[in-house]
Amino acid sequence: MTDIVIDEIVVPRTLEPRPVADRDADPGPDDRADHADRVAAYVEAIALENAVQAAVLGFGDLDFSPAEQLPQWHDPFTPRRLFVVRAEGRIVGQATYETLSDPAVTTCWLWVAVDPEHRRRGLGTALLDHVEAVARAAGRTDVISFVASGQGVASGQDATSGSDATSGSWPAEGPGPATAPADRLEASTGHGWVPRASSEVRFALSRGYALGQVERISRLPLPVDEEALAAIRSEALAAAGNEYRVHTWSGPTPRRWQSDVAAMATALSTDAPMGDVPEPEDVWTVERLVEAERRRATSGRASLTAAAEHVPTGRLVACSDLAVPDDASRPVMQQMTLVRREHRGHRLGWLVKVANLDRLAVEKPGRPAVLTFNAEENRPMLAVNEAVGFVPIGVEGVWHRLL
Ligand SMILES: CC(C)(COP(=O)(O)OP(=O)(O)OC[C@H]1O[C@@H](n2cnc3c(N)ncnc32)[C@H](O)[C@@H]1OP(=O)(O)O)[C@@H](O)C(=O)NCCC(=O)NCCS
Repeated sequence: MTDIVIDEIVVPRTLEPRPVADRDADPGPDDRADHADRVAAYVEAIALENAVQAAVLGFGDLDFSPAEQLPQWHDPFTPRRLFVVRAEGRIVGQATYETLSDPAVTTCWLWVAVDPEHRRRGLGTALLDHVEAVARAAGRTDVISFVASGQGVASGQDATSGSDATSGSWPAEGPGPATAPADRLEASTGHGWVPRASSEVRFALSRGYALGQVERISRLPLPVDEEALAAIRSEALAAAGNEYRVHTWSGPTPRRWQSDVAAMATALSTDAPMGDVPEPEDVWTVERLVEAERRRATSGRASLTAAAEHVPTGRLVACSDLAVPDDASRPVMQQMTLVRREHRGHRLGWLVKVANLDRLAVEKPGRPAVLTFNAEENRPMLAVNEAVGFVPIGVEGVWHRLL
């Protein structure tokens, strides 16, 4: 393909039809027809992203629908841009560019997806060239890309995957041939691998990206085994003792905890294991938290949070939250789990996770599963998840390149 045309999509603020009154109050290029076109293009681009990711992994559980993603596209702290390539009027390739609003930041996050029927024609290269040029123009020279890789049943990762033979069998069963050690590309951390022969790995390597880390994607079938949970709950309560008290809530953070939660969100950006991929500090203020929660309230996913208060100081020092879809047939996504450094070693991670699963069962029962991502080297977190019943279902490579 020689003439590849890349268009930018202006992401609409709402997916609802634009009311006539609104149009009349604001005449100009953004009339109703434009709005409808933008909604259609945005929805089509996100549908492609979800379909491509589901095809790679062999399941669609990680999908965030266009409506669920919309608030993130309008987060003033994490500006994003969306580009597409069309063939015969249909979107067949898309690329996203995301960064932090702080002009001093040099990091950005890029992602490219091409319809399987249009691959090996240079579309991926053209899209990545484009978003890399956008990044360079904005002074973002440190690129990170999170790329799911098919594993398990689909491409046959075997039970000795990762570096930790104690992490259980993975995949459980499956027809795919085991991936021979020579066909695995190990992360530079020494923990976890991705299949060398896959399109996304070949593409990333051909573009000069290095595999800095591998994250494990795990699934917890619901309802949780009550016996397993009870054992973890009582061990966590015993380890935490009287110094810590659990609080849970759904929806926006209660006012009294806002500054503690904002501080934990900031800490999370640099505290989680990052392998060889340096992530910049992402500062959360109370204003940002309130604004993000206001936007999230319209997304079709409710937040469920459990946090631990350090009673002597009255501060929250551990927190875990879940994004629960309104549609009960879809899985729940684990979001942040963090224990402040000074309070580690008291099983607080277990305490808040179990409290949140308990709360989920009561408040939003009937979802099929919880999904979570963890760095392969994050043994303490993987240990908690495995004890609760999470099973590995795939991996995500964290790729890095300096432009
Ligand atoms: C990775 C992806 C974007 C590549 O899209 P594409 O349009 O096929 O890419 P290109 O045609 O520009 O390929 C560029 C180079 O990547 C490498 N490559 C891509 N797919 C390959 C494959 N299946 N086998 C071997 N090499 C491959 C080759 O070096 C290729 O150059 P060549 O065709 O001249 O040999 C596409 O496979 C995809 O959407 N994968 C799933 C989503 C994903 O993983 N995205 C993350 C990437 S940031």
